[in-house]
Amino acid sequence: MPETTGSETGFEEWYVTALNSGALMLMVSIGHRTGLFDAMNGIGWTGSVELADKSGLNERYVREWLGAMATGGIVKVDESDRYLLPNDHAMLLSRKSDDGNLAAFAQYIAVLGNVEDDIVNCFHNGGGVPYKKYLRFHEVMAEDSGMTVLEALDDHILPLVPGLNERLEEGIKVLDLGCGRGRALLKLAGLFPNSQFKGIDLSEEAIRWAQNEAERRKLHNIEFEVKDATDFDQTADPEAFDFVTTFDAIHDQAKPLSVLKGIYRTLKPDGVYLMQDIHSSGHVHTDTDHPLGPLLYTLSCMHCMSVSLANNGEGLGAMWGREKAKELLGKAGFDDLQIHRLDHDIQNDYYVMRK
Ligand SMILES: C[S@@+](CC[C@H](N)C(=O)[O-])C[C@H]1O[C@@H](n2cnc3c(N)ncnc32)[C@H](O)[C@@H]1O
Repeated sequence: MPETTGSETGFEEWYVTALNSGALMLMVSIGHRTGLFDAMNGIGWTGSVELADKSGLNERYVREWLGAMATGGIVKVDESDRYLLPNDHAMLLSRKSDDGNLAAFAQYIAVLGNVEDDIVNCFHNGGGVPYKKYLRFHEVMAEDSGMTVLEALDDHILPLVPGLNERLEEGIKVLDLGCGRGRALLKLAGLFPNSQFKGIDLSEEAIRWAQNEAERRKLHNIEFEVKDATDFDQTADPEAFDFVTTFDAIHDQAKPLSVLKGIYRTLKPDGVYLMQDIHSSGHVHTDTDHPLGPLLYTLSCMHCMSVSLANNGEGLGAMWGREKAKELLGKAGFDDLQIHRLDHDIQNDYYVMRK
């Protein structure tokens, strides 16, 4: 976000652009969910009737969506109102596989819009909005981490821990806390049949999805449990796991320090903890050049901070930052830590700690 945004001339023009962009992201989310970007990928110029027919959707809605896409510069339009999704746009916005794409991130805007009334109420009265109020959150989150975690897991994330691959091949016990739909763990369980995997999460809906998927893939080395980790410092099995992971799952905890202490407790001596969490300085004034600053502060206010406060938690917020993270990790017992950045993931830091 340019420094001039707040005060100098050009603000009005910037504001109109931002307003258009906000509206456009709602339509991008719809294009993703309805498969319209996929239907336009590689077909060349098309009219609204052909596109509606191809995608099995209502033509009147498709035509208006194309209007938003064309005026927003996502698709091209010619003089006969035919439309083209350029190849470089299709590369970013259509599905290559089951995993998402940049269009998937636009869904967060709609997910947050859905709880606006609850959040406004919190501005007046404090408190928070519980996880279960966020419709489609786990579905969208799993698409998000499908890109930031799943695709990079074996080639970029596991190699952050020297020797881990070999240990996984030999057979170790692994825990993923706040696993959501458990896609990272499901992938690992398939790759390393000699190791045992466990995923825990607060969400019954997400855990049910993960269990069904494990069954569908006929994986016998994985289990999922619905569990609230708020008092994990007391409830964690001592020295039970060789490797523990959390992907984007500490900052929105009600009691993050308790969870980190529990992770320390549940690691075997010499066990390793890998924490992926949001990259931030922890100070607004040094986050102004963060490429995702406004998005992350919005997600934090309208979700991460709020779900924690709803559970009588600390409400750390997504932008808690490295210094706070290091402070809490140190209090939990982790003083030997390394922080990595990975090229594919501008949103997160990767902390590697040995017990
Ligand atoms: C931002 S999501 C990340 C999910 C998953 N790790 C991923 O990357 O897709 C955070 C997860 O932490 C879970 N969570 C939040 N508070 C929890 C708690 N007290 N106990 C267990 N899980 C919790 C949420 O249900 C959610 O699935």
